[in-house]
Amino acid sequence: MDEPLKDLAGPRLLAGLASTRFGSIEIHASIDSTQTLLVAEGGRDGRVVVADHQTAGRGRAGRSWTDVPGAMLMFSALLRDIPPQRSALVGLAAGVAVARAIGGNARLKWPNDVRIGGRKVCGMLGELAPTGDYVVIGIGVNVGHADGDLPAELEATSLRIASGGTPPRRDDLCASILRELDALVGADFMDDYRALCETIGTRVRVDLGGRTLEGTAGSVRDDGALVVDGEAVVAGDVVHVR
Ligand code: BTN
Repeated sequence: MDEPLKDLAGPRLLAGLASTRFGSIEIHASIDSTQTLLVAEGGRDGRVVVADHQTAGRGRAGRSWTDVPGAMLMFSALLRDIPPQRSALVGLAAGVAVARAIGGNARLKWPNDVRIGGRKVCGMLGELAPTGDYVVIGIGVNVGHADGDLPAELEATSLRIASGGTPPRRDDLCASILRELDALVGADFMDDYRALCETIGTRVRVDLGGRTLEGTAGSVRDDGALVVDGEAVVAGDVVHVR
């Protein structure tokens, strides 16, 4: 473990996770990627790796994920014993967990971007281990960014900007997210997902890699697929068309 970090204290985080599966927390001042480490190394169910800064952070669809050191909550959590048909739902459960932990007007853009006022505040990446026996969910929340820290083209916000006040401590926020996730993983949560999902009822454009689908998102099925004009989309980048 590296030097203790302001608002990212291991004992405080662990204390907030009593009686959950998340009993192993590692905090790094700097690492290539919490996600890369956990996917490669594996470990026990409930292992969590947190970083103050990543030098090679990874986003969805092979994109890179950059951060401002000290401003973002970034962590990956390992989950075992997820039935294969539910592994794709872990990312949706994590979306609900983050939206609940943030509270207020946090909403979900399918599949699991968390947004406030139409601006992205959190992204997540769910990956199945090459061996297929565990899922790693990686979460990055913009917490302490000030105006100007986030490039305008990202159409992003932070908890500090959105609240206009003092953001939560990252350790407390991480514990809240993981407590919610612990309860949601084995539960039937799709009605909660749909209630938070602002994509439903919206006109969308979906990049299916080779084909673009434009239409109205009617629903999200229990298996997590987005239904656009009757066509089920299981993966793809979605744009809400204004
Ligand atoms: C996205 O919206 O494209 C997903 C971003 C996921 C970023 C998180 S930060 C913690 C974890 N480590 C990574 O390298 N990526 C995820």
